[in-house]
Amino acid sequence: MAHHDKLALQMDLPPQIPQPNVFPLSWHAKTQKMEEIWDAAQREFWDPKKLPWDTLDVESYSWEEREAIAYWWTLLSVFDASAPPVFASALIKTYEDHEEDPVRRCFFSVTRDEQNHEQMCGLAITKFLGHDDPLTYQPKTDLGKRLQKNAMWLYYNGGRYWNGYKNAVPKYSLAVLFSSFLMGEIAAATIFKQMHDNSRELVFKEAFRNIGRDEGRHMAICMALMERDYPRLAAEDKALVTKQIRAGYLFLSAVLFEPPEEFWDLPADFIKNQREGEEVARGAGFGIPTYEAKKENWRNAMLNLKGVLDRYGIPFPAIPEVGIEGQEVTEVDMDSIIPVF
Ligand SMILES: [Fe+2]
Ligand SMILES: [Fe+2]
Repeated sequence: MAHHDKLALQMDLPPQIPQPNVFPLSWHAKTQKMEEIWDAAQREFWDPKKLPWDTLDVESYSWEEREAIAYWWTLLSVFDASAPPVFASALIKTYEDHEEDPVRRCFFSVTRDEQNHEQMCGLAITKFLGHDDPLTYQPKTDLGKRLQKNAMWLYYNGGRYWNGYKNAVPKYSLAVLFSSFLMGEIAAATIFKQMHDNSRELVFKEAFRNIGRDEGRHMAICMALMERDYPRLAAEDKALVTKQIRAGYLFLSAVLFEPPEEFWDLPADFIKNQREGEEVARGAGFGIPTYEAKKENWRNAMLNLKGVLDRYGIPFPAIPEVGIEGQEVTEVDMDSIIPVF
């Protein structure tokens, strides 16, 4: 038996535990806003299974429409299915950092919400395709075939960032991490509102309302943390935030706008096929915003974020794609980003 097993025989009180150990034994709370957000998360919790699925008649859609709508959910799930492990890691970090009790709970609520969003993607895809895996599904139409190829490439690209993220989590402060979270949340809150307004199917309307509300809360969590930590943010962290915002823009554009070529490794006909699929889905009453509406939404989200960062003297990156001037950021790749949806 190693000698440290018998410390209790030699000492009255146990020695200090080397830090960080994974859990605090304290429940300190100073950010009141976090407590309010947690209470809202408890009140607003929803169950994807309990949506009015009985009002959905998939047979009323053509196969092309079904495959086009399932494609959009697949695109979303490339982001939302990675969110539970991503936020679960961030949750562990709040414990290692001995964060405030309400902050730990808020990150727990985000993990739980994102798991819900992932479930929703799975339910929609399974109902519309009659199959639970969009990559092994046998497409019934030519468009469906081309969209499946798109989905395979999206999945390949999305799968590349996990190792980078795992390395980033222990390296960066929570303050740097949630600057990239915030950008996904701002844009997501808007896009789901638009999807809600423009979708005809009741079950989707309800889902988008709930998801949009969740994303709004996630945004509020990031804002509350920024208010707490950014006034004292170190200069090198500020530079990192600028870089992460540019990376987040490139990454999240795939779902919120269109995937930029220099960052996403995609076939030449990808955009054409995606636009065609979106057109078919829109025609079937599924509220994907048009190219122009997406661009406007994404630009506004960036400007909102810029407004927040300006307050703390953090330079904003140039986003020429949506007409925003700023600091030039180069050398962004999948292995060095920590974006989240
Ligand atoms: Fe989400
Ligand atoms: Fe979120």
